[in-house]
Amino acid sequence: MRIRKVHLTNFRNFRDETVEFGPRRNLLLGANAQGKTNVLEAIHMLGVGRSHRDRRDANLVGFGETYYRVEGVFEHIGVRTKIEVAYGEERKRIRINGKEARPSDLIGLVGVVVSSPDDIDLIKGSPGFRRQFLDIAISQISREYLASLQKYVRALAQRNRLLKAIQMRKAQPAETAAWDRTLVVSGAAIVDARLRFLDDIRSEVEANFSAISGRKTGIDLTYDSKGYRLGGDGDTADLLAGAVKAQREIEIARGYTSVGPHVDDFRLLAGERDIRRFGSEGEQRTGVLALRCAEVMVMKTKTGRYPIVLLDDVFAELDDARTKALTALISDYDQIVLTSSRPAPEKADDLWSICIVDGRVEAGGSARESGKHT
Ligand SMILES: Nc1ncnc2c1ncn2[C@@H]1O[C@H](COP(=O)(O)OP(=O)(O)O)[C@@H](O)[C@H]1O
Ligand SMILES: [Mg+2]
Repeated sequence: MRIRKVHLTNFRNFRDETVEFGPRRNLLLGANAQGKTNVLEAIHMLGVGRSHRDRRDANLVGFGETYYRVEGVFEHIGVRTKIEVAYGEERKRIRINGKEARPSDLIGLVGVVVSSPDDIDLIKGSPGFRRQFLDIAISQISREYLASLQKYVRALAQRNRLLKAIQMRKAQPAETAAWDRTLVVSGAAIVDARLRFLDDIRSEVEANFSAISGRKTGIDLTYDSKGYRLGGDGDTADLLAGAVKAQREIEIARGYTSVGPHVDDFRLLAGERDIRRFGSEGEQRTGVLALRCAEVMVMKTKTGRYPIVLLDDVFAELDDARTKALTALISDYDQIVLTSSRPAPEKADDLWSICIVDGRVEAGGSARESGKHT
């Protein structure tokens, strides 16, 4: 789907503003701290149901306001979809074409992939960032994954509560059995889907990495199962069940569940070395972009259409050669929204520029407009 326009009400530094988009290449232009990333954040909100850089919706509400609302109009082969996400009084409401909807109805409907400078956390940050990458990427292409994830998270919370109760002798150890089963079954579905996803993107990541760095580099992506070993005989559910059983005493003593997809991780190896520990800053940035571009292609392959690709300041960090390589890599994408503090250097006639100044769209939405929506 392509985004046609978004209306922001009390969202970050936008009071009441409409941003209109061109069908293909969009450039959000403005000095620092004007609200460019906030616009991408709003699009991400409509695609995934949450911000890509802030877990707390309260932080997105305009200073001094009590709620925010983001309304987007999307289009796919002539069919329009209106999506609205609103938050206030600690409640989030989602509407799709005016009808009340759940977050799970939203995920995968539009399809968005964002890449921003914060993405370096995908390499350098804690495992939680990498798990979130996998969860958002796979959820957008698989309803089953999203369902397993929801089941797992619920079972995990219940089981942890129970483990705390057992620790305080307010419940019996045998009582976890009811949750163990759900945990193992949905947990194994999650792990298996993650393994398949890594298989799906591996060669793509390698090709992207080589293209962007201009140097042929062998890439591997390995799933890091913590406290259990994958492969060999036995399916994932059996392996997880064994690990859960083995950890039992420890888990009761600690009061939380210590094995499963909620603690797992993955690693990116370039030339057989962990890029996190041995990669230069440039290699790490390249790795992240290679991952994101692979995510885009897998979404295209699995869903039959490109996601909306949001590129936040990505070119600012790249030298000329890498800029050129990335530009070539993304040239087939459908709709892109990128941000920059500098106008595009050369021929910008296929670019739809939108100037953002202090939470406002300057000159009414579209500057140098070119391609029409079809
Ligand atoms: N909840 C909020 N309410 C009002 N303004 C906010 C809120 N959160 C962030 N801002 C403002 O948004 C601006 C940053 O926007 P951002 O989109 O990150 O800028 P940039 O154009 O550099 O990408 C800052 O001026 C910041 O004070
Ligand atoms: Mg920004």
